[in-house]
Amino acid sequence: MRNAFVIGHPVAHSLSPALHNFWLKQYGIEAGYSAIDVAPESLEDFIHNIKNEGYVGGNVTLPHKVSVLPLMDALDEAAETIGAVNTIIVKDKKLHGVNTDAYGFIENIKQQHMLTNKDKAVLLGAGGAAKAVIHALLKEGFAQIMVTNRTKSKADDLQKQFGDKVVSVGWENRNSILVDTDLLVNTTSLGLKGNSELDIDLALLPETSIVCDIVYNPLMTSLLLQAKARGNPVVDGLGMLLHQAVPAFEAWFGVRPDVNTELGAYMLEQLV
Ligand code: ATR
Repeated sequence: MRNAFVIGHPVAHSLSPALHNFWLKQYGIEAGYSAIDVAPESLEDFIHNIKNEGYVGGNVTLPHKVSVLPLMDALDEAAETIGAVNTIIVKDKKLHGVNTDAYGFIENIKQQHMLTNKDKAVLLGAGGAAKAVIHALLKEGFAQIMVTNRTKSKADDLQKQFGDKVVSVGWENRNSILVDTDLLVNTTSLGLKGNSELDIDLALLPETSIVCDIVYNPLMTSLLLQAKARGNPVVDGLGMLLHQAVPAFEAWFGVRPDVNTELGAYMLEQLV
């Protein structure tokens, strides 16, 4: 039987088992997908045993997304650029480390809205998620991406890595840079259940700008509620999680799964 995994530490909170097992059932595929808690000191052993154990691959979540990278036999362009692996595919006896977060991010938006204007995007945050979003937006053809972060040096590093289209801006300017924006994305952990709220004033943001939050618990963050109330099109973060899983499931199990409202409703029930 084909088996896949998600590894993390802790991993019990991961929604990936519910998601992949939903699809396995839907498509009548006899295979397994389970969560495995792997402590950092056991990571190398676990990765080296993937082929012996007969796994078709798996997902990688915190805190391993960066540390698994040098343990792979090959990397795709996204994993290399983002510097993190979220999916492992065993193919031709090799471990392929790929990153489907950028794909998931952009597919989620495109499934819901026409991305017609691509002149300016504003990104809040400069962590790992921001890298995936920048990679996606550059591939999508955005002319300028302003990145603002509490720790400005991290936004400066992204500007250095990705080049002139990425512009680092001080966190204190986050309200004023919203003028003429086509897409606003929160990649910080602010607004996540149990964390502080994101403090931002959307007054200068055009009403046509798409507003996207990669936080999905709660589904409607205060940023999205605020944006929706003033008429902006909004995109929640759960869809990104669903879409990033599509290429992984297809690679492991041979079926390209569908992301639809039934799946969305089921996954929403899993959020506690
Ligand atoms: P991820 O890899 O998911 O992006 P991360 O690397 O921990 O997670 O990044 C979290 C982001 O939220 C960072 O941009 C962080 O800002 P710093 O780089 O200054 O730490 C941002 N963040 C977290 N708490 C914040 C707060 N109270 N105010 C502003 N930004 C915050």
